Amino acid sequence: TTARIAIDPNATVAPVNRRIFGSFVEHLGRCVYDGIYEPGHPTADADGFRGDVVDLVTELGTSTIRYPGGNFVSGYRWEDGVGPRENRPVRRDLAWHSLETNQVGVDEFAKWCKLTGSEMMMAVNLGTRGVLEALDLLEYTNHPSGTALSDQRIANGAPEPYGISMWCLGNEMDGPWQVGAMSADDYGKLAARTASAMKMVDPKLELVVCGSSSSSMPTFGDWERTVLEHSFDSVDYISCHAYYQERDGDLGSFLASSLNMEYFIRTVVAAADHVQHKRHSDKQIQLSFDEWNVWYLDEWNAIEGTIEEWAYAPRLIEDVYSVADAVVFGNLLMTLLKHSDRVGSASLAQLVNVIAPIMTEPGGGAWRQTTFFPFSVTSRLASGVVLAPRIEVATYTTKVHGDAPLVDSVATYDAEAGTAAVFLVNRHQDEAITVTVDVSALGVGSIVEANGIHDEDVYAKNTIDDRERVGLVANESASLADGSLTITLPPVSWTAVALG
Ligand code: AHR
Repeated sequence: TTARIAIDPNATVAPVNRRIFGSFVEHLGRCVYDGIYEPGHPTADADGFRGDVVDLVTELGTSTIRYPGGNFVSGYRWEDGVGPRENRPVRRDLAWHSLETNQVGVDEFAKWCKLTGSEMMMAVNLGTRGVLEALDLLEYTNHPSGTALSDQRIANGAPEPYGISMWCLGNEMDGPWQVGAMSADDYGKLAARTASAMKMVDPKLELVVCGSSSSSMPTFGDWERTVLEHSFDSVDYISCHAYYQERDGDLGSFLASSLNMEYFIRTVVAAADHVQHKRHSDKQIQLSFDEWNVWYLDEWNAIEGTIEEWAYAPRLIEDVYSVADAVVFGNLLMTLLKHSDRVGSASLAQLVNVIAPIMTEPGGGAWRQTTFFPFSVTSRLASGVVLAPRIEVATYTTKVHGDAPLVDSVATYDAEAGTAAVFLVNRHQDEAITVTVDVSALGVGSIVEANGIHDEDVYAKNTIDDRERVGLVANESASLADGSLTITLPPVSWTAVALG
C-alpha cells in the first residue's frame, strides 16, 4: 500500500497555538499527592514538589495546566486550600470518594506552575457554589492588593497577583455523576451570571463554558446550543471532553478514533456558529478541548460503584498505555492541531498517575508512559503555522466510524526559521505503508529527525517493572530528494519528521 501527500504552504489552518499543548492536574487519586507533591521524596524541593516530576513535565512540553478539577471542583471550597497548612481541614471529596487534606491549594499550585513554566487555567465550582465564590477566588488570585482577599493572598506569601486569564465555569455540568448536575437551561443561566460578573472585574478574562461531557451524551449538540443561548455574550470558549478506548478487540475502530473527534469538533462548531448567526454577532466562540485522552473508561465504570473507603490519595484510574494507545493518542493530538482555527485551547487529561503520560512511585522513580512520546515530540516540533495536507490513500472499513483513511497527517511550517514538521499515522494493522510527501513548496533541504512509536507487539507497555520497554524509534527509511520526502510507516505507528 502507498500514499501520496501534498503540503501547500498556502493551505494555512491557523498559527500553531501553544495552548493546544495544555494538560490537567485534578485532585484525583495520586495526581497531586504522591504525584506532583511528595514531601520527603529524595527529589522534593522545600515546598514538597518532586523534582523528577518537574523535569518530566518540562520535557513533555505542556503549556496551560487546568486545575483543580474535573469532577473534584464541583464540591471544592478553594478557601480550604489556603493559609497555614496546619489549619487546613480534611474534607470528603464526593466525586472520587476520597479524603482531601488540602495540603496543596491554589498558592502551592501557582508555585508549581512557575517551576514547570506553565500557565494556570483555573476552574470555579458551579456544582455546590455560585457567583460569589467565583468572584472571591478571582479577587484572591488576580487582584493586586488592598482588598480583603488580595491581602489574604499576600499574607499567605504571594505578593504578586497570579493574573490567571483562562477560567472554566464549572465542569461537566451535564453529567449525572457531577455533584450539582443541572439542565442546560439552569446551567446556561448560572454560567451567564457568573461569567458576566467575572467580566465586570476584568473584561479581558477568557471564560470557558461547559459543553457536553462526551459526544455520546443524549443532549449532545442541543446542550451546547442552549447553554450558549444563555451565555454567548459573556463567554469565549465552550469545552469539549472526549476519551477513547479499544472495545471488544476492535483495534480497527480504535485506530480511527480521531474520526469521532472530528465529528465532535464539527458538531460543537455548528452549534456555536448557529447561536452566533442567530444573534448577527461578529463574535466567534472557540473550542476548549480541555479533556482528551485514551481512557479505559468502561473498565473504570464497572468498578467505580464498588469504591467504599474514604482513602487518602488512593490509586485510581492509573491506566497503563500500550503502543496502540500511543498511536491513537498521537493521532488525537494531530486532529486538535488540524482544527486549531477553532480549537483555541486543549488539555491532555491528565498529567501524573491518573490517565497520565507520567507515572510515579512514592519514594521511588518517575517514568514515561507510551503516550508521553507523541506529546513531547509534537509539542517540541510544531511551530509556525498549521498546514492541512492533501492526502491520497485507500480507506478501510471500521465497525464504529465507517470508512477511515489508512493514513492521516498534519504538518506545521515555520517560514521564518525555514523548518517544517510532518506528523503521520499508519492505521493499517498488518502492512507498512510507503508515503511520498511533496514538500517542494516549503523550501526545505534536509531531514533533521524522523522518529516514531511502533512495536512488533502493539500492546507493549512501559510498566513499573519495565519502565523503558517502549520509546521513540528512529525511522531509517526516511529520505528527501527533489522536494519529495519518502518514508515507510510501519503498521500501527505514529511518526514525526522534522525538516530544515
Ligand atoms: O479526567 C477524569 C474525569 O473525567 C474528570 O474529573 C471529569 O471531568 C471527567 O469525567
